Order: sequence, then C-alpha cells, then structure tokens
Amino acid sequence: MTSLAPIPLVDPRSQSLLMRACRLEPVERTPVWLMRQAGRYLPEYRAVREKVGFLELCKTPRLSAEVMIATVHRLGVDAAIIFSDILPILEPLGLELEFSAGEGPVIHNPVREAADVLRVRELADVDRLGFVMDTVAATRAGLDDSIPVIGFAGAPFTLAGYCIEGGTSKAWTLTKQFMMRHESAWHDLCGTIARAVSQYLVAQLDAGAQIVQLFDSWVGCLGPADYRRYVLPHTRTALAEVAKRAPVIHFASGNPALLPLLAEAGGSVIGVDWRIDLDRAWETIGFDRAVQGNLDPVILFADRDTVRKRTLEVLEQAAGRPGHIFNLGHGILPGTPVENVLELIATVKQG
Ligand code: CP3
Repeated sequence: MTSLAPIPLVDPRSQSLLMRACRLEPVERTPVWLMRQAGRYLPEYRAVREKVGFLELCKTPRLSAEVMIATVHRLGVDAAIIFSDILPILEPLGLELEFSAGEGPVIHNPVREAADVLRVRELADVDRLGFVMDTVAATRAGLDDSIPVIGFAGAPFTLAGYCIEGGTSKAWTLTKQFMMRHESAWHDLCGTIARAVSQYLVAQLDAGAQIVQLFDSWVGCLGPADYRRYVLPHTRTALAEVAKRAPVIHFASGNPALLPLLAEAGGSVIGVDWRIDLDRAWETIGFDRAVQGNLDPVILFADRDTVRKRTLEVLEQAAGRPGHIFNLGHGILPGTPVENVLELIATVKQG
C-alpha cells in the first residue's frame, strides 16, 4: 500500500504574520517590512549595482530575486517585496524609459498634449512584463512559506504623473494642469493605465505573490475633491480584480486628508505616511481595516535610542489592535545607517 502525503487543510503561505494581520487576525507580534528595504543604503546592493544598470537588474529575474532574498535574510523582515520598479510597465504602453545615473527616471517621449494620449497603447499582452513574473516566481521559490512575497504596481495617478512630467517632479504641476485642461484625455490615459495595472497585479498573483501593494506615491499633491473626481475611479478599476483574490495594500503619501478616499477606492490595508499620527489615521480609516506604517524614514538618521523610542511610539499608537503592519511612512533613504534599520526591526520584534 502506498502512503499518500496528507493534504494540508490550510495553505501555509496564508498563515504568515503579515497575511494574518491583513485579515485583522490576532498575531503573536507585529509583522514588519520596509519600503525600499533593498536599496542604495545597503552596501551589498551597491556592490551589485556596480556591475549592472538598474533597469537591467530589474530585467534579470535571477539577480532581482537574489537581491531581495539576501535582503530579507540580512534584515530578518517578515515580507519580501519583489525587487522591481513601478515604471517598467510604461514601456509596453509605448513610453521610452531610461534610468540615468544621478537623474533618476526619464521618459523621452512624455505625454504633453491631449493628442499624445492617442499613442499610449493598451497593455495587450502582460507577457511583455514576463521578467517581473519570473522575478516573483524566483523570489517565491527562494524563501520559506512564512515569508510572503509582495507584488506591486504604481497607481494610475502616479504613473500618469511620470508619463506627463517625463520624470520625477516636486509639485506635479504639469500633471495637474493636464488633468484640469484636458479632462477627457486624462481619463483616457488613466483608464489605459488602470487596465494595465489590473492585469499586471493579477499576473503577479498567478506567478506566486501572496499579496500586492499599490503605490500612489505622489497623489498627495491633490486635495480630496480632485482626488475623487480625477483619481478614485481609476484606482478602483486598478484594484477591483486583484482584490477578489488577495489582500491589497493601498499606499499613498503626502496628504492625510485623502485617507478616507483611499479606503473608499480599495485596499484591505491602507498604507499611512508620517504626516499624521497612526492612531488618528486608523480612527479615520476605521478599525475594521488593517493599516501599514508609519515611522518617518528620516528618524533612521538619528541616534539608536531615538530610533528605538520613536519605533515604540508607533507601536503604542497601534495599541496592540489586530491589523497593524509596521513599516516606514515612505521608502528608506539612501545613506540611512544599516545598524539603525536593524535596531528598528529588533525593536518591533521585541514589541
Ligand atoms: O526594496 C524595495 O522596495 C524594492 C523595490 C522597489 C524599487 N522601487 C527599487 C528602486 C520598489 C517597490 C520601488 C517602487 C517605486 N519606484 C516607487 C514607489 C515607491 C516610492 O518610493 O514612492 C517610485 C515612485 C519609483 C520610481 C523610481 N524608481 C524613482 C523616482 C527612482 C529614482 C530615485 C531613487 O530613489 O533612486 C527609482 C529608482 C529605484 N527603484 C532604485 C531602487 C533600488 C534606485 C536605483 C539605483 O540603484 O540607482
């Protein structure tokens, strides 16, 4: 008689600290991971980048997976976000993307006039981004089941902002002007991006991600009325399909007044920046929703005691309620001392 392995009743990958926190289940301790946990502040990352350009690194799944797996082991965090970027999705839509040393991302053919939207293509085939799905699969294969893999995409506003500005901006003024002067073309552009993002996020789940995060990094330059009119419908489209299948972290930065609208647009977890206290933010969002955040990344440049104290303050504001994922309020900055990152993580783990 052959003995068959018992079929597990629950998928072990759904039982990690982070996945349970997403579902508002009680956990032994607060899960922690950090936006930009693999980045230039890490000497190991800088060593990889001496040999390979950033976009090339993103397009080499074996290396991308290695970078994140090594980072997870080095830091002891509770999740692995795939090593990639929000911008490569723009290439199959017809935008010419380059990461130039020192300048950051550049788009050589930005969308400046209403008619330019006509040359932005639908993402006909998500396989054009197959290298990202390969990164998801390789990252998943290299980690224990207790570490969830987070897929991600940029949100329609933030991606449209890069298309219009042609790079990073402080105030996103061209983007806001375009939105207000060419409303119909704006909705066409964001509609195309939102459909692409939706397909892309679902494909990352199919490739092995347990959860996804949507980054609306720069939407905080808008007020609530404009968010509702120009952004919310598109973010909703981007998230609707993926939300049926997995937890979604919806992160935005810059304007706490948008939090209730972010929650309305979608996401089982709302990512909060440091411009509002976590307890106030959670109250606004509603305690029936999980939250992620929200230490100011600049605190990691302070002394160890301050890092510890300020980390504990965030935990105190979360007050042991189920559904808190510890993170920074935005990505780790280049130049951050690694020992302070380790101190933060140790502090969260000790509680
Ligand atoms: O560790 C991780 O979080 C994994 C990977 C990751 C990167 N970018 C790697 C990266 C993630 C999740 C992102 C998302 C991303 N990319 C966002 C949203 C998050 C946020 O910070 O708001 C945005 C806005 C981008 C666009 C982008 N990519 C910019 C503006 C830049 C240049 C500025 C900078 O920080 O260098 C990048 C480049 C980039 N993306 C780097 C890394 C590690 C640095 C590239 C290098 O090695 O020189």
